[in-house]
Amino acid sequence: MEEQSKQDHPKDQPPKEQAQGSRRFPSHPRKIAVLTSGGDAPGMNAAIRSVARIAGAAGIEVFGVQRAYEGLLHGKFIPLPSRAVANIIQRGGTILETARSEKFRTPSGRAHAIENLHYHGIGALVVIGGDGSLQGARAIADESDIKVMVIPASIDNDVPGSDFSIGFDTAVNTALDAIDRIRDTAFAHDRLFFVEVMGRDSGFIALAVAIAGGAEAVVVPEVPVEAEQLNQRIEESEARGKRSSIIVVSEGPRTGGALKLASAMNGHLGESPRVAVLGHIQRGGSPTARDRLLASRMGAGAVKAIIEGRPSSLVGEIRGEISFTPLPEVPKEPRTLDTELIELVALLSL
Ligand code: F6P
Repeated sequence: MEEQSKQDHPKDQPPKEQAQGSRRFPSHPRKIAVLTSGGDAPGMNAAIRSVARIAGAAGIEVFGVQRAYEGLLHGKFIPLPSRAVANIIQRGGTILETARSEKFRTPSGRAHAIENLHYHGIGALVVIGGDGSLQGARAIADESDIKVMVIPASIDNDVPGSDFSIGFDTAVNTALDAIDRIRDTAFAHDRLFFVEVMGRDSGFIALAVAIAGGAEAVVVPEVPVEAEQLNQRIEESEARGKRSSIIVVSEGPRTGGALKLASAMNGHLGESPRVAVLGHIQRGGSPTARDRLLASRMGAGAVKAIIEGRPSSLVGEIRGEISFTPLPEVPKEPRTLDTELIELVALLSL
């Protein structure tokens, strides 16, 4: 892919692109940009592809921004015609890459990024990313005339304004595949296993995996649990004749992590528990059909919103429908977990 880069602060006069749009929506931008930001999530490429193809078909020129907001600061724009996004729908990660940018958090950094967008004549930006990326998108929308559409993509599934984020389904299925394998060994050896999944601040993955994987218990950041409670749970299930168990734990300081909890256990049928930390294998890999569909629908929704002249919005999925929530109306806090489901994990394992 050919790179069209304007390094650092543009000194020339920005070209004054006039919006030409269709007859029905006369004022939509002729050029848009798309970036992926935050932790990568399987399905981001499917969303990029959808944006490039749907916008291309509407006669809009699409640019990909490399390395998220950092790329905006350095003018890392690459043309994304329809053919440039061939053969990516099945790929994990993001062809545009992602990065963290401290400079973008400063007003002067953002002013610089906005100037780069203006310089390239870009009238709308599609941000594909998680909760942190949403904050950056809000800032651009507030501080400029650039239209910003946010597509939620995070394995954590905690982006507000959408029931689902791209990548969650794939991450859950990846973790579930691992748990099914671990269960084979747990059963064969009458063992207790602790399995640590991702989600430093959010227990959506852990809860979904615990229910779908038939775990004995789940420990999430929203409801931390003491090892003593887990000891009691395992002793009760041993008394009921259960000989193997799996406890799913979200990573991070709020739960303490699987290793720490396992080390505080009394043991199970005379053996110490085993620990499996799944880590970043949950972030990569080919997206599931569900994530590809979601990404394709959200990408198309974002372009439609731009063409129709909607205000800067979060393009989500609510009750199965593609939704458009204006950014000022999107809750400031991450989505909250239905903690009542934690009890369901215990009941289902009786
Ligand atoms: O937000 C996505 C996520 O994968 C979380 O589940 C996890 O806690 C965190 O990112 C890990 O971040 P990093 O890859 O920077 O260690």
